[in-house]
Amino acid sequence: MHRFKYKGRSLYCENVRVARIAKEVGTPLYIYSRNTLLDHYRKIEKALKGLSPLICFSVKSNSNLSVLKTLVKAGAGLDIVSGGELYRAKLVKTPPERIVYAGVGKKRDEIMDAIRYGILFFNIESQEELELVNQCARGMKKTVNVAIRINPDVDVSTHAYITTGMGQTKFGVDFKTAKNIFRSSWKYRNANIKGVHIHIGSQILSARPFRHAIKKVLGFVDENKISIEYLNVGGGLGIVYSFEKPQTAASFARKIAPIIKRSKLKLIFEPGRFISGNSGIMVTKVLYRKKNGRKNFIIVDSGMNDLIRPSLYRAYHTILPVTKPAGSLKKAKFDIVGPICESSDFLGKDRVLPVLKKGDLFAVMGAGAYSFAMSSNYNSRPRAAEVLVDGTRFAVVRKREAYKDLVRGESVRA
Ligand code: LLP
Repeated sequence: MHRFKYKGRSLYCENVRVARIAKEVGTPLYIYSRNTLLDHYRKIEKALKGLSPLICFSVKSNSNLSVLKTLVKAGAGLDIVSGGELYRAKLVKTPPERIVYAGVGKKRDEIMDAIRYGILFFNIESQEELELVNQCARGMKKTVNVAIRINPDVDVSTHAYITTGMGQTKFGVDFKTAKNIFRSSWKYRNANIKGVHIHIGSQILSARPFRHAIKKVLGFVDENKISIEYLNVGGGLGIVYSFEKPQTAASFARKIAPIIKRSKLKLIFEPGRFISGNSGIMVTKVLYRKKNGRKNFIIVDSGMNDLIRPSLYRAYHTILPVTKPAGSLKKAKFDIVGPICESSDFLGKDRVLPVLKKGDLFAVMGAGAYSFAMSSNYNSRPRAAEVLVDGTRFAVVRKREAYKDLVRGESVRA
């Protein structure tokens, strides 16, 4: 459940009219609902209560500082993948013992920063990375905790670009390498191997692949008599974008809790999309309408630089009018496209929508995860503003970029 609902003809975020925010802040615009973020976080917390997990929100899905602070204040930890995400985690004063750090390409400086801050874990993705983490810790006269990310080689039916737990992807280490690492763990005197980590993919609708992967990894731990404290099951819970029927947090928990309980390991969970996905929308304005051949186009003021998911994954985002037109219920089929000079620049194709006119607004739903976070300045377009709504109030939590932001750091030489 999210808190973007119509009251009469107007779309609201919590108790604020979306059109009012757009009028004051302009478009393109991202709007997040603080209470939806918290509801979703609490759903997971409640579902997994019996396991007392550490729930680390995946920063890559939405790294806005106010979104992070909202969740950290509610008790969440953070799953980070770069020095930049660590920087954000520090700015919102995330307790270090609630931070886990994954990613296949961590650099020496990033590793040292994270050691200095005292994070709970590195999720190690290769033997060479483990050697570097151990070396950095030794140089700093510290001992750090690590978990080995195992690629469990399970099949997940999601988009190929967002599956991560199959053998041929770059993530984690295979069972053979994991075995070698555990066998030679004595070599890493400054890196305590305290856990195993998996993350099998994203937008996963059923618990089956999770169970499969968890069982495989726990089987490996048992077989090799590996002594560890933590099991990090990654993120990946799917959400509703259109007609999907994803598992609820409660049904996911029911399916995985017994296996984890039996293992006696402490659970870490890294949800991103489940918390942030339906907590945000993108609002865009109709610039022009036109017909090319048999196709009706609506050209709006946001494009693939603002929201790349449709272009990159052919992802479906529901598109709704911010204000339903009065009287006439006339609808037609349109492609909703942006101003970018690429044919792949679309937000939706063949959508049956009310006939809006120039200046009217559309809401692109389910745009709280991997949306602003993946936006860019392509075509030299300033990035959109971000707003956080709380009940009857709203605040701009990231200013719209200006042209001068586009050229920051550049110099003119010829
Ligand atoms: N943990 C790790 C190690 C991850 O790599 C990810 C996401 C997560 C947790 C969070 O997964 P979630 O709960 O959000 O599914 N850009 C794509 C999604 C890429 C996901 C990358 N990893 C999209 O727009 O669908």
